[in-house]
Amino acid sequence: MKIGIIGAGRVGGALGKAWSAAGHDVMFGMRDPGRAGEKDIPGSAGTIEEAAHHGEVVAFAIPGVDMIETVRDLNLAGKTVIDASNRGGTPEKPVCDAIAELQPEAQVYKAFNTLGFENTQNPHFGEERADMLFIGPEAGQERVAGLIGEVGYNPVYVGDLDQWPVLDSALTFWFNLQKQFGRHTALRILRD
Ligand SMILES: NC(=O)c1ccc[n+]([C@@H]2O[C@H](COP(=O)([O-])OP(=O)(O)OC[C@H]3O[C@@H](n4cnc5c(N)ncnc54)[C@H](OP(=O)(O)O)[C@@H]3O)[C@@H](O)[C@H]2O)c1
Repeated sequence: MKIGIIGAGRVGGALGKAWSAAGHDVMFGMRDPGRAGEKDIPGSAGTIEEAAHHGEVVAFAIPGVDMIETVRDLNLAGKTVIDASNRGGTPEKPVCDAIAELQPEAQVYKAFNTLGFENTQNPHFGEERADMLFIGPEAGQERVAGLIGEVGYNPVYVGDLDQWPVLDSALTFWFNLQKQFGRHTALRILRD
């Protein structure tokens, strides 16, 4: 699959490493692609527009406020978009809703935001794999679940984008947990 990742930082880098290793054709979108050589980029690099054009799936791993402004200038129609921001937007309107409004023909999901990046770099805890909550349209959720699985998490579908407060609460819970247990801390939902 062709995947564009906007942002080559801690979260974007971890996603790119996992998806490249899984055999996907990953292109990073950067403000200054000329600096790609300075980073250990697992995939090719181009402008933000080039990476967004490249991807059937476009994952945004830049600050949430910048994400809204960046998405405004792109054509993401028909693409699966993943918002990884854990803050940004407003109390009434999270980043994922703002993106969905700006790009009504894209399928917008939110994932990777409820745990610190150390967990996305390594979702394994001995024999266990951490759970990753995600939201977005049910019709395309299996594709996103597959990508989350390739990062190493167990994907847990929570519902459509209107379930964003659940993800926000999970993040708040994680922030509290990590004070006690450290940042490589994650959750596992037990079920029959
Ligand atoms: N850190 C965490 O534990 C964590 C966990 C879950 C989710 N998140 C979310 O994931 C996203 C990325 O976080 P991170 O920890 O990976 O940050 P990071 O390591 O600081 O990387 C941020 C990346 O965003 C790029 N960037 C910054 N402003 C930009 C703009 N205006 N336009 C385009 N690119 C821009 C930076 O590019 P340059 O190299 O050009 O500066 C850098 O590649 C954020 O939304 C954050 O809320 C973070």
